[in-house]
Amino acid sequence: MKRDQWGNRAAFVLAAIGSAAGLGNAWRFPYIAFKNGGGAFLIPYFVALLTAGIPMIILEFSLGQKNQLGAPGSLAKVKKKFEWIGWWPVISAFVIVSYYAGVMGWAWDYVVGSFSVAWGEIGASDYFFNNVLQISSGPGELGGFSYPVLIGVVVTWILIYFILRKGTESVGKVVWFTVTAPVILLLILIVRSVTLPGALAGINYYLQPDFSKLLNYQVWIDAYSQVFFTLSLGMGIMIAYASYMPEDSDITNNALITVFANSGVSFMAGFAIFGTLGYMAQTQGVPIEEVAGAGVGLAFVTYPNAISMLPGGPVVVGFFGIVFFLTLLTLGIDSAFSLVESNVAGFSDKFGWNKRKTTLGIIILLFLVGLIFSAKAGLYWLDIVDHYINSYGLVIAGILEAIAIGWYYKPETLRSYFNPISEYKIGSWWNGMVKYVIPIVLIYLLIQNFIGDVKTPYGGYALTFQWLGGWGMLIAVGLVSIILGSVGSREDL
Ligand code: PHE
Repeated sequence: MKRDQWGNRAAFVLAAIGSAAGLGNAWRFPYIAFKNGGGAFLIPYFVALLTAGIPMIILEFSLGQKNQLGAPGSLAKVKKKFEWIGWWPVISAFVIVSYYAGVMGWAWDYVVGSFSVAWGEIGASDYFFNNVLQISSGPGELGGFSYPVLIGVVVTWILIYFILRKGTESVGKVVWFTVTAPVILLLILIVRSVTLPGALAGINYYLQPDFSKLLNYQVWIDAYSQVFFTLSLGMGIMIAYASYMPEDSDITNNALITVFANSGVSFMAGFAIFGTLGYMAQTQGVPIEEVAGAGVGLAFVTYPNAISMLPGGPVVVGFFGIVFFLTLLTLGIDSAFSLVESNVAGFSDKFGWNKRKTTLGIIILLFLVGLIFSAKAGLYWLDIVDHYINSYGLVIAGILEAIAIGWYYKPETLRSYFNPISEYKIGSWWNGMVKYVIPIVLIYLLIQNFIGDVKTPYGGYALTFQWLGGWGMLIAVGLVSIILGSVGSREDL
C-alpha cells in the first residue's frame, strides 16, 4: 500500500502551521508575555525558540520524513525497544484532544449565542458557567450532561471526521482556510481594538519591556514551556505530518517557516487581546492587571465581556463576538485534527489498518472517552487533566525523544540526513542542543513542575481527583504506551 502523501509542499507547511497556531497563541502567549516582562520577554522567548523549539521541530520533521512513519514507527526504527517512546506522545495527544474538543464545543455555543448577544446581556461569566457549562459543585458531582456542550462537541467531531476522512488530500485543502481565516479575523479584531480609547495603554502593558524580570528563572521556564507547547512538539504530530512528505524534501526551511508564522500569529493575538483589555480597563476605571488573564477565563469570560462594552449596539457586539469565537474555532480546529492524525498515523502504521477506518474508529473512541468533559463537572476534569498532561506528558515526551536521538542514535546521523536535502544548512551546534540543552532544560522543567505540584496540589482539588485525572491518568498513558510498544506489528515493519 502506497503511503498517503501531501499534494505539495504548501499543504504540509500549512498543516504544520495550523497545528502550531492554536488556542495557546490566542489565550496563552499574550498573557505569558505580559506577565514575564512584556517586550523583554521576547529575549527568553527567542532564546527558547533557537535552542529548543527550532532544533526540536527539525528533529521531529526529520524523524518522520526519513522513516516515512508516525512517531511509534519512527522511534522503533531508531531502536525496536524505543517504540513505546513514540507511543507516549501519541497517547498524550489522544488525551489532549479528548478535552480540546470540549473547548471547541464551548466556542460553538458562543458563536450561536452571539446572534442574540446572549453572553452580552447576562454577562459572560453567568453565560459561561450557567448556560453553557451548567457547572456542578465540583469534580465529584458529575451532574449529567450539559447539552449545549455535548452538542458543540458532536459538531466538532463530525467536522474533524470529514476533514481527516481523505487524509492529506482533504487536510491539504482545508488548511488553506483554517490557517488564513484566523489571520484575517485577527486583523479585523486588531483594527477594532487599537482604535478604541485606552487601547494604547493596554498594548503598552503587553509590550513595555521590564528587563529586570529576566533575572527570574521562572520567566525562562515559562519561555521554554510556551515554545514547546506552541510548536505542538512532543505529541507525534510533526513526525506524522512529515512522514507524508517525500523523503528528499526540504526540512530546515519548512521548520523555520512554521516557527515564524506561528510566532507571528501569537504577536498578532497579543495586540487584539491587550488593545481590547486596555479599552475595558479604561471604561471600567480598573487597572489592567485586574482584567488581564489567560486561558479559559480570558477567552470565555473577560474577552466577551470586553466585547460587550463596544460602542455601536448589539449588532456590533454580536458581530465582534462571532469574529472572536470564529478566530478561536479556526485556530483550534487544525490543532485538534493534528492531534487525531498523530494517532491515526501511529495505529495505521503499526497494524496496517486502512487509514479511513482507523480515523473513524479513533474519533469514536475519543468521543466516548471525552464524554466526561461534556458532563456538568467537565470543566473541573478538563482543568486537572490539562494541567498534568501539559506539565508532564509533553515534557517527558520531549525528554525521551531528545535522549533517544541525542544519546543513542546520535544527532549527527539525522543532521547528515537533513542538511543535504535542505535549503538552509544547520551547523553542528544543533547536535549540542539535542544532546544537552533540550534534555537538561526539560528535566529541570519537569522537576520544577513536580516540586510545585507536591507542595501545592493543583487547583485545590482533593487528592482523589489529582490521582484520577492526574497521576493515575499519566500512569495509564505510560502503561498503554508500553503495551502498544511491545505487541506485534504488521509483518513488514
Ligand atoms: N500548539 C497549539 C497551541 O498553541 C496547542 C496544541 C497543543 C496543539 C497540543 C496541538 C496539540 O494552541
